[in-house]
Amino acid sequence: MDQARLLQELSEFLRIPSISTLPAHNDDCRRAAEWVANDLRRLGCRDVQFLGSESHPVVWGVGPDVPGAPTLLLYGHYDVQPPDPLNEWTTPPFEPTVRTGRLYARGAADDKGQVFCLLRAIEAGGPPRVNYRFLIEGEEEHGSKTLFDVLRREPERTKADVALVADMSYLAPGWPAVYTTLRGMCYVEITVRTAKSDLHSGEYGGAAPNAHEELVHLLTRLKTPDGKIHVPGLYSTVKPPTKAERAAWKKLPFRERDFLKRRVQAKALTGLKHRSVLERLWALPTFEIHGITGGFTGVGAKTVIPAEATAKVSLRLVPNQKMRTVERQLTAAVKQLTPKYATATVRFLHGADPARIRIDHPAFQLLDRAFREVVGRGTVPARAGGSIPVVPALGAHGTPVILTGIGLPDDRLHAPDEKLDLKQLWDGIEVFKRFGELLGEANDVGRNS
Ligand code: BES
Ligand code: MN
Ligand code: MN
Repeated sequence: MDQARLLQELSEFLRIPSISTLPAHNDDCRRAAEWVANDLRRLGCRDVQFLGSESHPVVWGVGPDVPGAPTLLLYGHYDVQPPDPLNEWTTPPFEPTVRTGRLYARGAADDKGQVFCLLRAIEAGGPPRVNYRFLIEGEEEHGSKTLFDVLRREPERTKADVALVADMSYLAPGWPAVYTTLRGMCYVEITVRTAKSDLHSGEYGGAAPNAHEELVHLLTRLKTPDGKIHVPGLYSTVKPPTKAERAAWKKLPFRERDFLKRRVQAKALTGLKHRSVLERLWALPTFEIHGITGGFTGVGAKTVIPAEATAKVSLRLVPNQKMRTVERQLTAAVKQLTPKYATATVRFLHGADPARIRIDHPAFQLLDRAFREVVGRGTVPARAGGSIPVVPALGAHGTPVILTGIGLPDDRLHAPDEKLDLKQLWDGIEVFKRFGELLGEANDVGRNS
C-alpha cells in the first residue's frame, strides 16, 4: 500500500468543509459529492449519478458487472458536523494533520475516513468479486431528507444481497464490533413566549413573566435530576435488555470507571441510577438540551426581561419507539407543562426511527472472519447509542445490514480534535478487501439481484 499517496488523497477529501447543516456550505457539500463521484469513476463504476438534490446529492454508483456474484451495497456519508468551537482544535478542522499516527480533521472518522477506507479496499482488491452498489449521501448529519425522498421514489436503489454501513467504531482497540441496534432521534426546537416584547427589568421585574425562566422551568420538568424523562407514554414501549444480553455486555471491554475518566472526562456520570451505564447508553431513551437562545447574550450587561426563548432539544429513541409518536408525546407534554400565561411551540427539525438488526445472515460470519484474519479478533455484537436515519429503510425489504466500522471510541466524533488512527485505516482497508473476496466466494449468500 502506498500509504503516502492514500494519505494525500484522503486529506484532499477532508479539506472540503462539507457541513450539511449550514446552508453557507452548500457548495462545499456539492464539491465533496463530486470528489466521491470522481473516485467512483476511477474505480471503474459504470454508472455514477447524483440523485435528489443539487447541493447535497446522494452519490449513486454501480460497480463493474460480476455475473453470478452477490450484490453488496455500500452506504456512507460525505457530510460532516460543524467544527465549532474552533479554538479548541489543536490544528484547524479542515487542515488534516498527522500527529503520532493519527489523522486529525473534521470527518476523519465520521464518516469520510471510513468511506475512503471502503473505496481503497475495493481498489486494493483488484478486479471486484462482487457487484458493488454505492449510496453515499450528504445529509446524514441533518436527518437524511434527500436520501429518504430518493428512496421513496426509487426503493429499488437499496436492492442488494447485503448492505454494509461503515460509520461506527470498534468497542476498544483490537475489538471490532457489529451492532444490533441504533438509537433513533427526535430533534425539535421549543420556543416559549411570555409577552409582546422584551421589557425593562427594573420597571417590570417582580411582576412580569420571563420567557427564559419559563423555558428553563419547563426543561427541568421534562427531565428531572434523577435522569427520568417526564413525557407521558415515552417509556411504555421500551423493552429492557434480556438477561442473555446483559450477561454478554458484562464480557465487553467496557469499564464504567474508564468511561468516566478517559472518555467523558467529567467528575461523575449522571442519569438513571438503577440502570447500568451501557443500558443508559444503548437501551434507554435520552433527553438532551443542545442550546438555548434568546434574551441578551452579548458582551456586557443589559437589564431586560426577555419575551421569547428557544431551546434546541433532542430525544434519542430505542427499538420499539416510533419517531412520529414521540414527537406527538413530546408536544403534548410541553403544552401540558406550560403555564396558561405563556405559549410554547414545538418545531420539529429532524428525526429518525431506531433500528434493530439481526446478525444471523451468513455475511456476518464472513466479516467476522475478515476481521479475525487481519486484526486477530472477530466482531463482537454490541448496541450503539448513535443514530443513522436511513438504516431501517436499508433493511426494510429483508436485506441484511451490517453495521460496523473502523473508528475507535476516543475518536471525538462531532467534537474538537476528531481523529482517525491510521492503523485503523490500514487495517480497515485489508479487512474490507478480504470481506469482498470472501463474499465473492460465498455460495450461501442469496442472489437478490
Ligand atoms: N456515525 C454517526 C452515528 C454513530 C455515532 C453511530 C456513534 C454509532 C456510534 C452518525 O454520523 C451521526 O452522528 N448521526 C447523527 C444522526 C442525527 C443527526 C440524525 C447522530 O447520531 O447524532
Ligand atoms: Mn457518521
Ligand atoms: Mn456523525
